[in-house]
Amino acid sequence: MSLKAASFFGSLALFGFAIGCDGGEDKTDDSGLDAGGTGTDDTALTSIPDDPVERILALTGDALLGELEYGARCSNCHGVDGTGISAPSLYDVVPPLTDEALVEVILYGTDYGMPDYEGQLTNQSFADLIAYLTSTYGG
Ligand code: HEC
Repeated sequence: MSLKAASFFGSLALFGFAIGCDGGEDKTDDSGLDAGGTGTDDTALTSIPDDPVERILALTGDALLGELEYGARCSNCHGVDGTGISAPSLYDVVPPLTDEALVEVILYGTDYGMPDYEGQLTNQSFADLIAYLTSTYGG
């Protein structure tokens, strides 16, 4: 193969690569769009808020299901009866918190040992948990 031919094919390959890249980017854009719609439920209902805290607050929780979540995820630190083991009693810490603050604490945790649960429960399960907490320990 002559040098000329080699560089010709070389540039063809480069050209192809560049095209390939573009194709790739398009794909990423597409999947980006899909991901935007994936909150699974939010494609149909455009009124669902973007903010995860508001999404959870918009749902009606079931306190009985929330108690099950609590038993599985929270009772090892806060105690089955909520009076606290390694973590504070929920009778002390829940009443002063607004529903919004409560959701934020559970979603994002604190710097002093309260874990974050973002992405580990469905929004409905978060809402159930809030219903349980406010009905059992609130006010
Ligand atoms: C690994 C132990 C641990 C687990 C599990 C845990 N917590 Fe906590 N939690 C803590 C600690 C420690 C604090 C006190 C943190 C602080 O004062 O910042 C706390 C604080 C809190 C507070 C009060 C926050 C505030 O700002 O006053 C709430 C409400 C709470 N937890 C709810 C929950 C719920 C609901 C779950 C289960 C989904 C849970 N916790 C699971 C350790 C835990």
